[in-house]
Amino acid sequence: MRVLPKANETCWCGSGKKFKRCHKPTPITQGVITPLRPVPDSIVKPPWSDGSNHYQRWDEPHVKSADVIERMRRTGREAADTLAFLGTLVKPGVSTDEIDEACHNAAIERGAYPSPLLYPGSKDPFPKSVCSSVNEVICHGIPDNRKLEEGDILNLDVTLFKEGVHGDTNATFFVGEVDAVSQRLTRVTKECTERGIAAAVPGNRINDIGRAIQNHAEANGFGVVRDFVGHGIGEQFHTDLQICHYYHPDLNTVIEPGMTFTVEPMITVGSWKGRMWNDGWTAVTIDGGRTAQFEHTVLVTEEGNEILTTPTDTSIHPYWTL
Ligand code: MF3
Ligand code: CO
Ligand code: CO
Repeated sequence: MRVLPKANETCWCGSGKKFKRCHKPTPITQGVITPLRPVPDSIVKPPWSDGSNHYQRWDEPHVKSADVIERMRRTGREAADTLAFLGTLVKPGVSTDEIDEACHNAAIERGAYPSPLLYPGSKDPFPKSVCSSVNEVICHGIPDNRKLEEGDILNLDVTLFKEGVHGDTNATFFVGEVDAVSQRLTRVTKECTERGIAAAVPGNRINDIGRAIQNHAEANGFGVVRDFVGHGIGEQFHTDLQICHYYHPDLNTVIEPGMTFTVEPMITVGSWKGRMWNDGWTAVTIDGGRTAQFEHTVLVTEEGNEILTTPTDTSIHPYWTL
């Protein structure tokens, strides 16, 4: 895995200039977070929506009933359509808070609760309706007044709660034109997600998913984040089923039809190690290198699997167009 140069070392791009005078990025810093947006009484809410530390139960069965699966198909599509819509708003000068407002309103218009809103964490509950993770932010970035800049990469992670179930999906979008390394990172990350999903079939084991992802990322010189994993999902946002995106020998549970879980690899240009900001949410790479992610909620079927977070219009979604 290539680690980013130090400030006075030669830039990796071949310009011959010092890194600090060439591709050394300006780090992302915390902007202004706007006040909490209310959700109307008519929307059915998960237990954490009152800001209490109501963690969900973790012991939801891994194999879902036909009824839960039908509801997850519908909510998964709503989440995917919301994400595809948000992608159309991504351009230089737009703030991540404006995208959050659009997500919040789109969720309510669809009769859904935006699951991240007030979700409990290690410190304060998550204060916004979508996670927005720019450049070196690995995941769980909080939307704020920072305006997107030409050349940024932005991950938007949408989760909706409707009909008593969650649909969780994310994608990495380009803000205007991005550099060649960011393009390759994002394309390889998409391929890692595809390969992970291709391994999520009956008879395989959970660790075959991470093995496929890690092999592809490392063959391309990229790193795989260890601190965050995919998860079982259904009536609960996160269940105890963990999907590591690297090979983990202990995850030898056999994959069975009816299981629903996310595949959401976070892939890095430099070090895969992360640290968290004082907000208790924003995770960034330790070396400031960029990171990309794609996420789907997947249903395992007899024949293979089904991506529950496929949007109605795939022509406006980078997972299908990159
Ligand atoms: N959607 C994220 C995931 O993929 C979880 C976000 S939790 C939040 O699991 F509180 F940060 F929104
Ligand atoms: Co997820
Ligand atoms: Co997510």
